[in-house]
Amino acid sequence: MTETPANYTTAVSIAEKKVVVLRDLDSLYNYRLSQAAAWAPIQNLRQDQIRLGFVPTMGALHEGHLELVRRAREKCQKVIVSIFVNPYQFAPHEDFSKYPRTFERDLELLQSVGADAVFYPDEKLIYPNGKEKITAVIPPSPLNDTLEGEFRPTFFRGVATVVLKLFNLVQPHIAFFGQKDYQQWKVIETMVKDLNLPVDIVGVPTVRESDGLAMSSRNAYLDEKARKEATNLYKALCTTRELMEGGKNPSQAAAEAAKLLQESQGWQLQYLKVCRSESLEAMPDKYSKPCVILAAAKLGEVRLIDNLPIADFD
Ligand code: PAF
Repeated sequence: MTETPANYTTAVSIAEKKVVVLRDLDSLYNYRLSQAAAWAPIQNLRQDQIRLGFVPTMGALHEGHLELVRRAREKCQKVIVSIFVNPYQFAPHEDFSKYPRTFERDLELLQSVGADAVFYPDEKLIYPNGKEKITAVIPPSPLNDTLEGEFRPTFFRGVATVVLKLFNLVQPHIAFFGQKDYQQWKVIETMVKDLNLPVDIVGVPTVRESDGLAMSSRNAYLDEKARKEATNLYKALCTTRELMEGGKNPSQAAAEAAKLLQESQGWQLQYLKVCRSESLEAMPDKYSKPCVILAAAKLGEVRLIDNLPIADFD
């Protein structure tokens, strides 16, 4: 039988444990080194079981993020969460300064689900020379420029670039992304494959409110009336699926569901499309699985996105 080295604590209860806050590169690297030292004896014995998990976020955490941390906890010995509101992924008209910042509350939530450390850098650390002249990662088409990319042309460049920087700083074995941001998840998977990055990507299914609304930091902007209405976006995805199962082709099904959504109050639909699950190319006019239905719409001033993946075996 193998013995657990004395310096490796396997059973620290979540309640006793404090999340370590890492604000600069020295503390991040020292934390990583100290953990590596603690793992080394075990690593020799059980190499395939030593994992640093990473959950990149922009804070304003909700149940969807906590689910990512829980999944990371299941698969990894240590879990680092980053909180960084990335200015590079905001277009000038998207209000970067108004993005909710709730660090103290985020820290409490992270503590409650047993995250080990939070990397909380400031802008100067991530973009020491500004973000205007940085070497950027541009995802390939159509991932970069359809769907979200059509409405937010520089968004995925900003996301891919900052995630690559965070991967290089944190050096995780596995990184966890919400399937709620389906296109973002595929952009990151593609970047990892194309650039041979030594990290595994796990996509965690969307967490929903009891009426089906996908959890999102933006839901906090919905007033009571809009909050009730918001569930109709998910219903439009489900209707599209039902219509396809009933024999309609993907574009007819999407158009009918879109019409129904626009008949209800306050919606400005940006897209509702059925796409191939990996490349996100538009589905040809015959329904086949796997595929994914994706939508974005503004409800008043609040922009919501959602998706419904349909697997081979569904
Ligand atoms: O999904 C998010 O919160 C952000 O896009 C991410 C992945 C943390 C990059 O800034």
